Amino acid sequence: MAVRNLALVRGNGLKLGLFGANCSNGRSYTTVPERWDASWEHNLQLAQLADRVGLECIVPIARWKGYGGQTNVNGSSFESIAWACGLLAGTRRINVFCTVHVPLIHPIVAAKQMATVDHVGQGRLGVNVVCGWNEDEFHMFGVDKHEHDDRYAQGEEWWNIIRRVWSGDVPFDFCGRFYQLGMVQGEPRPFEGERPIMMNAGSSPRGRTFAIENSDMHFDGVRSPEASLDRVAETKARARNLAREVQLWTPVGIICRPSQREADEYINYLVEHADWGALGHLAELHANDARDRTDAEGVHRRRGDEPTERQVLARGSYCAIGDPDYVTSELVRLHRVGFDGLVLNFVNYLDELPYFAEEVLPRLERAGVRYSGTVVKNS
Ligand SMILES: Cc1cc2nc3c(=O)[nH]c(=O)nc-3n(C[C@H](O)[C@H](O)[C@H](O)COP(=O)(O)O)c2cc1C
Repeated sequence: MAVRNLALVRGNGLKLGLFGANCSNGRSYTTVPERWDASWEHNLQLAQLADRVGLECIVPIARWKGYGGQTNVNGSSFESIAWACGLLAGTRRINVFCTVHVPLIHPIVAAKQMATVDHVGQGRLGVNVVCGWNEDEFHMFGVDKHEHDDRYAQGEEWWNIIRRVWSGDVPFDFCGRFYQLGMVQGEPRPFEGERPIMMNAGSSPRGRTFAIENSDMHFDGVRSPEASLDRVAETKARARNLAREVQLWTPVGIICRPSQREADEYINYLVEHADWGALGHLAELHANDARDRTDAEGVHRRRGDEPTERQVLARGSYCAIGDPDYVTSELVRLHRVGFDGLVLNFVNYLDELPYFAEEVLPRLERAGVRYSGTVVKNS
């Protein structure tokens, strides 16, 4: 049987994807006129370009409400399962994720929607499971936000139900804390009967454990690559103890220009035109959500102490800002500490990806972490 999600499972040592292009502004909190317009045309062109240059995946953000400020960052966003369906129909090889909120989408509905889309993509759909944190969105849905760790307990039930439906071991009754379901069934199963690859970005102790026990790709935050070394190794070791293989990924904001000076000038210009209103609201939401957390990431979120450039370019994620040599060295540096993959965001993905593909991808090949035109084929 063919291997599904092939380019993610096999292939390049350092895998690359794009992140956030289904949302207006993408991941950047800036008012500059070239900020990302997340139209369908742009998304389709971008996915086709990413497919042509050999990126492995494209990951959306599930966002139901914008962050306000001058530009209402992420105020317009394509619903991610429908978005993935369109992009899978319009591409040939790249993996397209959907991002699904556990508390907002019933698992039986989600299982059928995702199976449908996976048939369109012939085994190239991936699932980002998010358990939710954004108070504004919960309020809009009229859904109570459970205590932090309970959200992951619900996530576990949700994912177990979906996996069981997809396994074809039906009908079944499910009697859990969050779901009580009778005679559950749902066909078709995903393409060729295998479940889509699953990613999760829980960073708290409970979230990380959920990811280690359930996901195939754990997305973790990075302060500095070397500071992540032990944590990355520990995540993989914990997964192996459970006889699981979990890849480590992280998001990276990119500004790549012919010279370091031009890249520095561009980030300064972005910071001068930061959307502070939206950033302020985001910080408030994060701080509220982390109210009772004592782990390092929770404390950090409460304090909101990311460097400004990271906040503006990539809402706090690690950033690589410089000329092609510097950007390449930063991506290799992340790979050396154990990251298997990186999802990238640009201020304007379509304007900036061609230069990145032309200058950085060949350098990554020369560094031995990717291979030219890697097209892994199912035999
Ligand atoms: C790569 C990545 C993608 C994410 N996608 C979403 C998303 O689309 N929607 C959302 O509400 N949260 C999203 N999150 C937030 C995570 O699901 C999670 O809530 C957050 O990392 C905090 O982890 P914790 O729940 O363990 O505290 C994402 C985080 C990362 C790093």
